[in-house]
Amino acid sequence: PHVLVIGGGQNAEHDVSLATAAAIDGALRRGGFEVTAITIGRDGRWRLRGDPLGASAADSLSASLPFLARADVVFPAIHGPLGEDGTLAALCALSHKPVVGSGVRAGAIGMDKWATKLVAEAVGIRTAHGRLVHAADLGGIGFETEVVVKPVSAGSSFGVTLVREAGEFGGALRTAAQYDDRILIEDVVYGREIDVAVLSEADGSRWTPPPLEIHAEGLFDTATKYDGTARFTVPADLGSTDRVALREAAVRMFDALGCDGVARMDFFLTADGPVLNEVNTMPGMTAASQVPRMFAAAGVPYDELVARLVGAATV
Ligand code: DAL
Ligand code: MG
Repeated sequence: PHVLVIGGGQNAEHDVSLATAAAIDGALRRGGFEVTAITIGRDGRWRLRGDPLGASAADSLSASLPFLARADVVFPAIHGPLGEDGTLAALCALSHKPVVGSGVRAGAIGMDKWATKLVAEAVGIRTAHGRLVHAADLGGIGFETEVVVKPVSAGSSFGVTLVREAGEFGGALRTAAQYDDRILIEDVVYGREIDVAVLSEADGSRWTPPPLEIHAEGLFDTATKYDGTARFTVPADLGSTDRVALREAAVRMFDALGCDGVARMDFFLTADGPVLNEVNTMPGMTAASQVPRMFAAAGVPYDELVARLVGAATV
């Protein structure tokens, strides 16, 4: 099959998305797939081998449609808004083109930390207590206790601040507001950071490889995510009760959103069990990212994981 891999994108995770797309591209070529690689620049222009396909975002998108038409499957390897949020899945749906990963609904809800929280709580999965504020109303918001301030829609911890004292609160709100008009103020959850991946196969079955634990010095923030200092343990050292609870919650959330392909559900494991932090419907997919590490621990090498995702792509 001929796969169109789309990387880059118009958000803060642009470089992360280039890395994910390059890794997927490599795996597909090694696996004998025909690959066309397109990237979307920070300016919104679609590019082939670095060259913009048009003078504006709209022109370049039109010029890229023949590549979409020629491909058998699209692999939208873009994290964050205008990619992971269902927008690329929508383009594929309108074109009747099989797409790797989640469709419009799961992508859109999973990219929205507030909507994700509402869905999780509705299906009995705990999340941090939080409130939603609008960027236009920041003046009246007071600091009471230690909180995490986040943009509702962003990834890789861009715009996220742990606020320990009142003096840091205003700056944290303004930082989050650079990424989204909607800002989430959440209670701090203390627990081990455990990621669980869920894969849906071509036959519709879902399964989870062994969970992974993140060990970061301090916060697992944007810097720590990509500077190589974080350590991972996979399989995470878990008792059977916690292991079952984490995997069960991850699949329940995957099904509640109607995810496809692979998603990574990030939890804090507290003394009272798992608390869902967030959902990634297009998680980091370099060979060193958490999802591929979990599948490697389950005996599924990186190239095979990528090929299985393409094989499970649906219209
Ligand atoms: N948003 C980053 C890429 C992740 O979840 O892995
Ligand atoms: Mg994320």
